[in-house]
Amino acid sequence: MRRLMIKPLVVLMMTTSLAWASEAALENIQVETSVAAVERGADNLMNDCHSCHSLKYIKYRDLVTFGIDKKKIEAWRGDQALDAPLASLMTDDAAMQSFGKVPPDLSLMTRAREGGASYVYAYLLGYYNTPDGVTSNHLFPETKMPDVLGISGTTEPAQRAELQGKAHDIVSFLAWAADPHEEERYRLGYYVIGYLLILTSLLYFVKNQIWSRLK
Ligand code: HEC
Repeated sequence: MRRLMIKPLVVLMMTTSLAWASEAALENIQVETSVAAVERGADNLMNDCHSCHSLKYIKYRDLVTFGIDKKKIEAWRGDQALDAPLASLMTDDAAMQSFGKVPPDLSLMTRAREGGASYVYAYLLGYYNTPDGVTSNHLFPETKMPDVLGISGTTEPAQRAELQGKAHDIVSFLAWAADPHEEERYRLGYYVIGYLLILTSLLYFVKNQIWSRLK
């Protein structure tokens, strides 16, 4: 009986420690939520990612509402409508020909992968050159996406730090994009709580009035 109990326990301990080990490999990235950081991320994304990836749930109007510089948005948007989504500049056919895969939509990417923003950050910076000169990725060795930020060829610490900053801004933007109405929801939450507090005190006051008459 005791042996029967111990075995599942050991398996459980092994799997949880394995899970910890694989999670520990991801640096924990705190995304920034300021307009400035999200705007820098949007800038980088439009330059470095938008040629291949779409963000179909984000419209140019969402960027305006969030407070990103209108002039920049106008330049990105060109003659597309304000309500047009951020569509990729590459057709699916062209992508299939180049990569054998259509690059995934990035709107919900920080939610789609385990590890969220930390995963995307590590993926963007995970490229390296193997001894036989092939570029690979620590997190996704067989990935069809090229090393767009160029981290694999960058050894200079200051330049690597610059790329880390860039990746950080990009994931901050992607985290915002995955939930663009988060701030609005919080604000609404405060209103609702305020309303309930006022209502509760009013009802309490009314209840006291009624009961004072009965006493
Ligand atoms: C030249 C085209 C191209 C560019 C530019 C590009 N990507 Fe990709 N990306 C791809 C392709 C192709 C895939 C599919 C990889 C696969 O599944 O093998 C991909 C996949 C991804 C994934 C999913 C990885 C996974 O776990 O499945 C993320 C996240 C991503 N790209 C983010 C970005 C970001 C952020 C940028 C800009 C910094 C960017 N990409 C720029 C082509 C591109």
